[in-house]
Amino acid sequence: MADASEQIEILARQAGEELRGVADVKELEAFRIKYLGTKGLIKDSMKLLGTAPPEQKPSLGQQINAMKQGLTADFEAKKMQLTVGGSATRNAIDVTEPGNRPTVGNRHILMKVVDELTDLFGRMGFSIAAGPEVEDELHNFIALNIPKQHPARDPLDNFYLTAVTGEGGAGESPESQMQLLRTQTSTVQIRTMETQKPPIRVVIPGRVYRPDTHDATHLSMFHQLEALVVDKNVTMVDLKSTILQFVKAYFGPATKVRFRPSFFPFTEPSAEVDVFFEDRGKWIEFGGCGMVHPNVFKAVNIDPEEFSGWAFGFGIERIAMRKYGISDIRLFVENDVRFLRQF
Ligand code: DAH
Repeated sequence: MADASEQIEILARQAGEELRGVADVKELEAFRIKYLGTKGLIKDSMKLLGTAPPEQKPSLGQQINAMKQGLTADFEAKKMQLTVGGSATRNAIDVTEPGNRPTVGNRHILMKVVDELTDLFGRMGFSIAAGPEVEDELHNFIALNIPKQHPARDPLDNFYLTAVTGEGGAGESPESQMQLLRTQTSTVQIRTMETQKPPIRVVIPGRVYRPDTHDATHLSMFHQLEALVVDKNVTMVDLKSTILQFVKAYFGPATKVRFRPSFFPFTEPSAEVDVFFEDRGKWIEFGGCGMVHPNVFKAVNIDPEEFSGWAFGFGIERIAMRKYGISDIRLFVENDVRFLRQF
């Protein structure tokens, strides 16, 4: 018969092989009871100590302990493998557990305001027009009756994309193709009248660019809402009543609006529109408006004797600030989610 030490080795090998063959949690439990349980074979092997000669006892004891530790570790590893990998004891997915909520984004507040504005003007019979942000001087200035010497065309006040070549000499044809980022959505008035015949009734939301220093009310990129109406017998009364209707519908019937006489090359007469900001206790300029200048009609081959029209251009950020109580225009572009999530 094998001696005690050999018997322990045989037992360890047998247990190891059996554990390797264990295929599910049930078999694993049976294994545990057979070998590691209080009445299991390992416990049983302690009896060998009793019969062994005294000088062998310490090394036998160590051998049994090592076997027990090794087998326990292998047992735990097998248990992990069976329960985590393809669990038989519990469902892999606990449907009652709280889930990980996906972070859902939302539209930018400015885009929501654009939607609200185009909806509102849509109900007043306007359709939407659009044009390019990279423009030429013809549409940004010349056709809008803004002459070469006008300060608005100063290279320092515009983002020109083409190098400014010296004086164009007589006429403006070479410069008319010079490109810049549009400084106003009024460009789309021209583009609309180039392709559409009156009656025209459009609003134009869009981005515009100016080299302004950023502060609480200025950005070098912002948005405008332009409107253009061209028809027979259009008067300043139509202009004023449409703007008043818009302001009262959007901000509430008690909103205070005022028109100040002003000057724009592409309208005559022209006015500036201010809206009272209750939270700041002051008038804030929304933009300009006026009756379309005859020279603008001539630039797009519409007869100013037959047709008349009005236009306005408002800053959309300012409209959004008034509507939603936003105090600093820079918040729109800082992309701080604490701000963006509020809307
Ligand atoms: N384009 C002008 C600007 O950006 C605003 C403006 C004034 C637009 C009068 C108009 C208008 O359509 O009639 O300052």
